[in-house]
Amino acid sequence: MIKVVKVDNATEAADKAFEVMKEYIKPGKVLGLATGSTPLGLYERMVKDHKENGTSYKEIKTFNLDEYVGLPITHPESYYAFMHRNLFDQIDIIEENTHVPSGLGEDLEAQAKHYDEMIDKDPVDIQLLGIGSDGHIAFNEPGTPFDSGTHVTDLAESTIRDNCRFFDNDMSKVPTQSVTQGIGTIMKAKNILLIATGANKAQAVKDMIEGPVDEACPASVLQKHPNVIVIVDEAAASMLK
Ligand code: F6R
Repeated sequence: MIKVVKVDNATEAADKAFEVMKEYIKPGKVLGLATGSTPLGLYERMVKDHKENGTSYKEIKTFNLDEYVGLPITHPESYYAFMHRNLFDQIDIIEENTHVPSGLGEDLEAQAKHYDEMIDKDPVDIQLLGIGSDGHIAFNEPGTPFDSGTHVTDLAESTIRDNCRFFDNDMSKVPTQSVTQGIGTIMKAKNILLIATGANKAQAVKDMIEGPVDEACPASVLQKHPNVIVIVDEAAASMLK
């Protein structure tokens, strides 16, 4: 079931998301994390709360959704680097407790399988998600089977176009593949928190919430999950009934 929370703008979305997330920043919890522009406001609030209130991450584990294939972790746009820059290096989390899928190595499919095994051992209490303008969640593009596990996948052209802003606006610099948690992996999380802001998400938000549950809109699978909160700002909610 999807609970929709409408707010005015991205700042309020981040405030509300932090309010939800705060309940899970407790010893023993496992957080599922995302990259992209959407979670930045939430991560800023988590860092501020750690610095001002001493909220500790020492006994928290994290699993990220995805990573580009072939990008060294030292590349500033790798999701590994993103997570360290925007969150991990600014809180007291223990490196060994953080997990970002690796897009480097001899056997990416075997590594992906191992990633799912680790998640099965430490089930995610709350999974944070953004949504792509084509309805993707993590890098599960339209057509991805709902029962998929972590796997290697091609990025849709629309996603390469959306993400080229991080690569000098040059589509040829955007990696063409990623390792991503599958839709089946994401659906195992006990709770899901999806944030969508901005007019370019409006159609995807409508399809996710009001459309049929169909692989053409990967996020529509969330209608089948028992505990989903979707925080939308006015622009992203503009096509909802
Ligand atoms: C990121 C991820 C992606 C993004 C989505 C939206 O880890 O899995 O699905 O959440 O592409 O990206 P932004 O937030 O940049 O609009």
